Amino acid sequence: MKISVAGAGYVGLTTAACLAEIGHTVRCADNDAAKLAVLQAGKVPFFEPHLEELVTRNTKAGRLLFDTTENAVIDAEAIFICVGTPPLDNGEADLAAVANVARTISQYASGNCLVIEKSTVPVQTGQQLKRQLQLYARKGLHCEIASNPEFLREGSAINDFFHPDRIVIGVESEEAAAQLREVYRPVLDQTFRCPIHANCVSTRKPAWIVTDTKSSELIKHASNSFLAMKISFINMVADLCEAVGADVSQVALGMGLDPRIGAAFLNPGVGFGGFCFPKDVQAFVRIAEKAGCDFSLMKEVEKINKRRVAYFVEKVRKELWVLRGRRIAVWGLAFKPNTDDVRFAPSIEILKALTREGSVVSAYDPAATEKARAILPEVNYCATPYEAARDSEAILIITEWDEFRSIEWARLRSIVSRPLLIDGRNMFDPKEATRHGFHYVSIGRGSFFSTLPEDAPVPPREFRTAAK
Ligand code: UGA
Repeated sequence: MKISVAGAGYVGLTTAACLAEIGHTVRCADNDAAKLAVLQAGKVPFFEPHLEELVTRNTKAGRLLFDTTENAVIDAEAIFICVGTPPLDNGEADLAAVANVARTISQYASGNCLVIEKSTVPVQTGQQLKRQLQLYARKGLHCEIASNPEFLREGSAINDFFHPDRIVIGVESEEAAAQLREVYRPVLDQTFRCPIHANCVSTRKPAWIVTDTKSSELIKHASNSFLAMKISFINMVADLCEAVGADVSQVALGMGLDPRIGAAFLNPGVGFGGFCFPKDVQAFVRIAEKAGCDFSLMKEVEKINKRRVAYFVEKVRKELWVLRGRRIAVWGLAFKPNTDDVRFAPSIEILKALTREGSVVSAYDPAATEKARAILPEVNYCATPYEAARDSEAILIITEWDEFRSIEWARLRSIVSRPLLIDGRNMFDPKEATRHGFHYVSIGRGSFFSTLPEDAPVPPREFRTAAK
């Protein structure tokens, strides 16, 4: 099928490359000329595991092309809108980019085409989109609209495309549903050659959910808001654990084994970040308000999350007493591992707070340094975690990169000025860090493990780690 994808950001470029990989001819467009030039030169402007190889392979095969939106939509049978919907000052999603693409489609597309909103948009956007397309449609253009929310997590987006739990579409006709089914057929039947798992034998077929467009739009916002709620919930439980001397890892494990609750997204820490949860929670609150529903529950979720940075900085202050002049190492800048994205990352706010207080900060991240540098040029960025840790009085873990799990403890111990590890993601077993001579501070884990004598019997490992 001839497909066009408008927007070459994390969602658009991933979607375009994956659709090309399953055999479609895809024109991916962006109105940022500089980004388009980078893509046309064969480069990927951000880091996402496996994306570059997919882009290279499909560009070479002629299935993936990069073009202006005007050119890309001309003869497309299906157009996915994947442009950004950033937050406005009042928390609502800014739909200007979606409206721009709609205008371009109505003026340049031709024949019958299905226009699919993949960007995260407020419920009822589909109706506005339809009106806009009808209003400006040039002669001979027949557009139908559909919604197809994405559930791609940065860092595992390619995997999520090929092995989703569900594919949700919101449509207004059976024809549109059939066309989208055809788009996703290889994924639905799991008949593609898996580009990420060498001997992939996946037979688990994703659920195919067909709804009206409004329900589909809501599924996306409600899903992200629910996950954000889980995180804020466990962060509050962590605070309570800290106050009473209990262990949040064990509480999360005990809760998560109930299938009605589920183990995922019960890891406490410095709060959720990224370009999805913070803005989607805000937008969901505004959507509910506009519809006359009091969804104050989500306002609390947002408030709890915003407090996490101050809570963490207080934790650091408690250990160091004063922050001015202290040499602090920050490990992890990306809002989560396996991405270089620092948008709404807790690290940025933590770095700002520490530098404002006069701390001398050295930071390390395996992928996000350049993006962080563009926001906070005054920070000293290092090439390795050891370089950042040299002579430090505290190491703060903000992002749980795997690389930190294989740290050489003895080497680390020998280069720091004070062996203090403040883990904002509960990456380590407190006992392990303590054994290597570090004073270890984590989130919501009482003194149970760190005060046990070395030879005391310990529960099996699965009972000691947070639910993953
Ligand atoms: C999220 C959703 O998980 C995707 O399904 C969705 O498609 C995407 O938003 C989107 O709307 O585009 P993403 O933002 O890439 O994906 O990252 P997540 O893995 O969901 O993590 C979000 C934040 O929550 C991160 O800052 C992470 O560190 C934090 N988190 C996650 C926790 O603090 N604790 C947890 O237990 C889980």
